Amino acid sequence: MIILSLIGTRPQYIKETILNEEFKKCGIREIIVDSGQHYDPNMSEIFLKTLNIKKPDYNLNIGSGTHAETIGKIMVNFEKIVEKIRPNLILVYGDTNTTLAGAIVASKMKIKLAHIEAGMRSLPKNAPEEINRVMTDRISDYLFCPSQSAVNNLNKENIINNVYFVGDVMYDLYLKMKKKASYEVFNKLEIKRENFVLLTLHRDYNVDDEKKLKKILVSLGKINKEMPIIFPIHPRTRKRILEFGLNKYIDNLLVIEPVDYLNMMGLVEKSFKVITDSGGLQKEAYFAKKRAIVLMQDTAWKELIENKCNKLGNENTLLEDVLKEEKNFYEPNIYGDGKSGKKIINILLKN
Ligand code: UD1
Repeated sequence: MIILSLIGTRPQYIKETILNEEFKKCGIREIIVDSGQHYDPNMSEIFLKTLNIKKPDYNLNIGSGTHAETIGKIMVNFEKIVEKIRPNLILVYGDTNTTLAGAIVASKMKIKLAHIEAGMRSLPKNAPEEINRVMTDRISDYLFCPSQSAVNNLNKENIINNVYFVGDVMYDLYLKMKKKASYEVFNKLEIKRENFVLLTLHRDYNVDDEKKLKKILVSLGKINKEMPIIFPIHPRTRKRILEFGLNKYIDNLLVIEPVDYLNMMGLVEKSFKVITDSGGLQKEAYFAKKRAIVLMQDTAWKELIENKCNKLGNENTLLEDVLKEEKNFYEPNIYGDGKSGKKIINILLKN
């Protein structure tokens, strides 16, 4: 059996880790294709290295571009590899342009398609990630859901067959790596207290609109006066801040380059709270029993809001959410028991 996995962005390197390991254990051949959607070494290579994933067998090196360019380029190049390998199954992960491109190729070439992290839904409907999720789920043959509500979402859309609640591979990885968390970046920052806020920001609706981005940065500046903010900055956000001339608003924050998985774990663990618009980090905060203020109108990870572990926020509520709102609820096992990788492989083998 040959499995072809398509990855290409930071969160996909993370999700791939557990599956890659399970395939190795079962002696199943996995061929990895990296689309190259994320190309800065600290957004890509560093993850392969720290997570010990084998070097991708192919790299499509597609780099930056418009959505159509990205998806189109990946499709054209990925198709050639699929044609050559003729795998039994194609695996795609999450909700990025890489995910959708791989899904369309698989479906057009009539190769079975499995979607890891199926069934997640969130507003706005026109967010690139939401479009990618909905379309990928429509054409997937196996849908592996990280939560029960993801299963319900699919059922509501009349997607019933081969839908499995397996839990979240990111939780598997968190449990596996917990003891290996690194404090190297944290220590270098020489922060006196462990009372700091960890911030990440990169969604198009937060950073591509100048007025909105400015409001968020002004709000962050106020928090920073009370408690330092550590800000591993995404290349997209850095670019926008420069373009809009908003540099002065981040001068006083502790802005650092994006960090690898183990250092991010270390930072989350030491933080007081997390502010983020990342799907991955809002869960990693929860795994570490930290509260995340999620800078989104809505999130696919709704259980964390409903169970009061995390809170949806915006530029107007941020200051109060971070500094005044204290209570941190924790509800265990929302995303499975840490064995989702194994469950996915068992289901694939049975089929
Ligand atoms: C992508 C995913 C998003 C995911 C995020 C994690 C889509 C539509 N979005 O968002 O769901 O949460 O990755 O990071 O696929 N850039 C660089 N170097 C890089 C990567 C990006 O400079 O290594 C810059 C480029 O200018 C690029 C821009 O960031 O045009 C946006 O990158 P893109 O991959 O389209 O989206 P992300 O914002 O990274």
